[in-house]
Amino acid sequence: MRLLILGGTGLLGRPLVEGAVLEGWDVTTFNRGLTGPDHATIKALRGDRDAAGGLAALRSGSWDAVLDTSGLVPSSVERSARLLADRAGTYLFVSSLAALSWPGTPATDDLPPRDCPPTASVADTGYGTLKAGCERALVAALGDRFFIVRPGLISGPGDAHGPVGRWLRRAARGGRILAGGEPAGPVQLLDCRDLASWLLACARHGRTGTRNATSPRGAMTMGALLGACVAATGSDGRLVWADDEFLVGSGVRAWVDLPLWEPSSAPGHANRWMVDAGAAHAAGLSCRPLVETVDDTWAELRDGPRHDAGGPGPLPTERERELVDAWLGGMRDGLAVPRS
Ligand SMILES: NC(=O)c1ccc[n+]([C@@H]2O[C@H](COP(=O)([O-])OP(=O)(O)OC[C@H]3O[C@@H](n4cnc5c(N)ncnc54)[C@H](OP(=O)(O)O)[C@@H]3O)[C@@H](O)[C@H]2O)c1
Repeated sequence: MRLLILGGTGLLGRPLVEGAVLEGWDVTTFNRGLTGPDHATIKALRGDRDAAGGLAALRSGSWDAVLDTSGLVPSSVERSARLLADRAGTYLFVSSLAALSWPGTPATDDLPPRDCPPTASVADTGYGTLKAGCERALVAALGDRFFIVRPGLISGPGDAHGPVGRWLRRAARGGRILAGGEPAGPVQLLDCRDLASWLLACARHGRTGTRNATSPRGAMTMGALLGACVAATGSDGRLVWADDEFLVGSGVRAWVDLPLWEPSSAPGHANRWMVDAGAAHAAGLSCRPLVETVDDTWAELRDGPRHDAGGPGPLPTERERELVDAWLGGMRDGLAVPRS
């Protein structure tokens, strides 16, 4: 079975290629050669899909499945889909939950993508709208002969600079660690290796349609995730949970200052962790334990060239200390309800 991966070297691309090679696929990748080295045993094609003439390396060849993990610009996605349409048995596109007009309501598979003009570019449109435009471009190019997967947050080895990597670096510094909301609050993420192996299964089975892909609703909590980060690093970190009202009132920014924190009172954040991926799970997507994802992400971060345990955490150290003192001081004065 011949597989073409548009991408193949990023967070998702690496386990995708490794898994495909192990499963015996004849793998070709297509990328610019910027993100990382290609797997030693596969055929690597070079090109910039967003540049004029950038698809030249794809003018010949045919594949049982094409897996597009790099599409972001709608016109580029349409161009490559049209170029490959008659030479690809199955066409899979990795979109994002950000393509949906959500949060606000729980995300289901049948929510339509946002509106996006076909000419939208990175210069004038945000990530989620562009991904929605890519989904619409696929319809224009392929009709209904495609499978779209909308992951939420992807993590796992290689996620040094994503939210879990940032929390791990903060956890490694130890001390009092400011956390937002409730330890029992939900979070949903998907290990890149689990997504990769499911995508390969979908490619093998020639699936069509659109599916959300993340962990089951209610299966993971912020407390379990951050606790796993502290445990993985072996630091003396102690989580201090401050409530949404205090943090929002103190000007703490969701995601920017506290990755993954979703204050339900802030516009655009309610229901972020209420994604229904039941159909994907029924179709074989499985999620390894959260602790395994966190431990393996830390193992690579600790041992790899990008390890920077002294680097920036979710918040600058001094600002975090002030906030923790203010929160704990308020609790002592009876102004807030303590959290365990
Ligand atoms: N990370 C997440 O949490 C998350 C969540 C939801 C959805 N997604 C989606 O999942 C997919 C994979 O994510 P990822 O984090 O693994 O991505 P990534 O690390 O950015 O990897 C993207 C791959 O595409 C290649 N690429 C990028 N721009 C290209 C271009 N103009 N021409 C040709 N190749 C290009 C990259 O190689 P070169 O740079 O060498 O070209 C790399 O191999 C993306 O579509 C992303 O939008 C990610």
